[in-house]
Amino acid sequence: QNRIYRDGVSGLVPNIPTDPQTLEKAAADALPEKACAYLAGGAGSEATMRANRAAFESWSIVPRVLRNVAERDLSTEIFGRRLPAPLALAPIGVLELAHEEADLAVARAAAATGVPFIFSNQASVPMEDTADVMGDAPRWFQLYWSTNDDLVASFVERAEKCGADAITVTLDTTMLGWRPRDLNLGSLPFSQGQGIAQYTSDPVFARMVKQRIVSERVGKPDVKITRSTVKTLINMTHHYPGKFLPNLLSAQPRTAVETFLETYSRPSLTWDDIAKLREMTKLPILLKGVLHPDDARQAADLGVDGIVVSNHGGRQVDGSVASLAALPDVAAAAGGLTVVFDSGIRTGADVFKALALGADLVLIGRPYVWGLALEGERGVEDVIRNLIAEFDLTVGLSGLRSVEQITTDALRAN
Ligand code: FNR
Repeated sequence: QNRIYRDGVSGLVPNIPTDPQTLEKAAADALPEKACAYLAGGAGSEATMRANRAAFESWSIVPRVLRNVAERDLSTEIFGRRLPAPLALAPIGVLELAHEEADLAVARAAAATGVPFIFSNQASVPMEDTADVMGDAPRWFQLYWSTNDDLVASFVERAEKCGADAITVTLDTTMLGWRPRDLNLGSLPFSQGQGIAQYTSDPVFARMVKQRIVSERVGKPDVKITRSTVKTLINMTHHYPGKFLPNLLSAQPRTAVETFLETYSRPSLTWDDIAKLREMTKLPILLKGVLHPDDARQAADLGVDGIVVSNHGGRQVDGSVASLAALPDVAAAAGGLTVVFDSGIRTGADVFKALALGADLVLIGRPYVWGLALEGERGVEDVIRNLIAEFDLTVGLSGLRSVEQITTDALRAN
C-alpha cells in the first residue's frame, strides 16, 4: 500500500487494478471470448456464484480500538509448514487460456511470495516442470479420480516426487457442471487437447494410448503409426517424464484426447475409494468440495487430514448453498481436521470473515487468473501481495495482531 502511494507521487499507477471488480473487468476485456467464458463462467443461472459473494455481505466485521496493533504476524502453520499468510492458490485447470506461460508463471509468483500453489490435475504444464521452477516453495497436488486406478496411483507417486506437501482430491466434479457460457459457444478446452498435460506426460496414460492405438489398428492396416513409433513414444515418457506432451500430441492428438475424455473422471466414486487413497500415500489428504457437516464427519472418521469447503467457485451445482454459508456447521463437524475454504474470496475482509467462521486457510481462485491474464507472473504476484496487504490492514484495523485472534467475536451477522 505504501509502495503504491509512493509510486503515485511519481505519477505511477499499479500494474493491475487493486479491487476485484476492476480487475475482473480488465481481464475480461483483455481475454478472447472462449477463454473468458471458461475462466469466468459458472453453472446454470450462476446463482451459486452470486450467492458465494452475497454470503460475505451477510457478515460484518466489528473493529476494536486502542489495542496496540503496531506489530502483526499473519503467518500460520499448515501440515507442519509455516506459511506467510493463511492463503494458497486454488488448483485451476487450463491456465494456458489466460497466459502462454500458464502454470509456470503462477508457480514463480507463488514461490516469490511463499504462498502454496496447488497444481491442478487439469494443468497446462506437467507437474514436474512446474515443480522445477519453484525451488523449495510449498506446493500441493490436486487429484481428479480417473476411471483407471493405476493412473491415480501414478499421479500420486509423481506428486510425491515433485515435493507436494499434500494431496487434495476434488469430489465435486465427477461430472462437469452445466455451464451455459461454454455450452453456448460449443467450446470445451479439453476436447481441443488443452489442460491434459498431466495425462500426456504420464507413463500409465501413455500405455493406455498405446493400447488404444494398437486396438484401432486391428483391421486397419493403412493406419500410419507403426508399433515402433509407439514404442519410441512410450520410451520417451519413461526417460523424460514431463516432456512427453508435444511428442504424444503431435503424433496422436486425437487418440490422446479421446483416451483422456474416456478416463478422466469416475462418477461412481465412493468413500471406499478414499480409503484406498489413504493406503496409497503418507501425504496429508484433503477432500475438496465438502458442504455438508455429515460429509465432514465421515471424512474425519476415515482418517483424512483435511477438507476444502468449496462449491468450485459456483461452477458445478447451480443453486448450491453458498460456500461461506456452509462453513460454520461444516467446520464444527470437522473435528480436528484442517479446514480450508474457497469460493468467492476476493478481498482481505473476505479472508478475515472465512477465518473467523472456522477456516484455517483460504484459497484464491479466479482473482489470480485475472492477474495472470493481464500481467503474467508479475500480475499473479501483485494479486497475492495486494490481498495479503489488504488482509493485514483488516486484521490490524480490527484491533487484532495474529491469525489465531480472528474468531467469531469479531463478526456480527447482518
Ligand atoms: C477451477 N477449479 C478447479 N478445482 C479443482 O479442484 N481442479 C481444477 O482443475 C479446477 N479448475 C478450475 C478452473 C477454473 C477456470 C476455475 C474458475 C475454477 C475450482 C477452484 O479450485 C476453486 O474451487 C474456485 O475457483 C474458487 O472459487 P473462486 O475463488 O474462483 O470464486
